[in-house]
Amino acid sequence: MQPERVAALRAVSITKSFVEGAVRRDVLRGADLLLERGRFGALLGRSGAGKSTLLNVLSGIDVPDAGRVEIDGIELSALGEEDRTAFRRRHLGFVFQAFNLIPTLSVVENVALPLTLNGSATEHAIRRAGELLDRVGLADRRSAYPDRLSGGEQQRVAIVRALAHEPTLLLADEPTGNLDWETGRSVMDLLHGLVREFGVTMLVVTHDHDLLAASDAVWRLRGGILEPVPEGRA
Ligand SMILES: Nc1ncnc2c1ncn2[C@@H]1O[C@H](COP(=O)(O)OP(=O)(O)OP(=O)(O)O)[C@@H](O)[C@H]1O
Ligand SMILES: [Mg+2]
Repeated sequence: MQPERVAALRAVSITKSFVEGAVRRDVLRGADLLLERGRFGALLGRSGAGKSTLLNVLSGIDVPDAGRVEIDGIELSALGEEDRTAFRRRHLGFVFQAFNLIPTLSVVENVALPLTLNGSATEHAIRRAGELLDRVGLADRRSAYPDRLSGGEQQRVAIVRALAHEPTLLLADEPTGNLDWETGRSVMDLLHGLVREFGVTMLVVTHDHDLLAASDAVWRLRGGILEPVPEGRA
């Protein structure tokens, strides 16, 4: 018998609406998702479909109106705000479309930050951050500030920052959306390679065909629910 696979990420009947004045938008209407540990999932959907809203709920940045989110068996939606933040800091990594590096910290300090936030000594964190930057060919830019780097370089920094504290789950929201095609390709290759090497579970919002083909599972968010996309049909 196959050993039971552990869900790294499970979402059950997630609903989320936004109310603005008299207008109410039901963005998520019962979204379900199950991503096994070490797997690589991709999320498709038109602009405004609710992909970022879903990632915010899955990561505990935002709370669903109803439904349940579990990460590695921990029910995120049952934790208070403080515990959710602590959990996120320890177990999750993020990569955003707009890179989101901290402008007042140098490149190496940006990468070291998730380690120091989790209690690592500064010296250790900076050393580890330096090693990671070396891995992505940016050792010589360690003392630069993010605004001196190209978009592709900033995203490489953001990727190693997201992995520095060895999260169990990495969430990425259109990580190549602000890059030209060729740079985007190399950033995706890098992300994919590191995720496999680190054994991290990843859910990525992307329309990149190569990445979709390389993923273990694909969902399309449409009408507020997640539809599994059969292999080869993305
Ligand atoms: N905080 C908010 N308050 C009100 N409406 C919101 C809020 N956040 C998102 N929305 C609305 O929810 C819908 C889904 O937005 P979301 O950003 O999740 O879409 P998306 O699929 O990520 O789109 P894109 O591909 O353009 O990034 C949109 O109609 C948006 O206007
Ligand atoms: Mg979005």
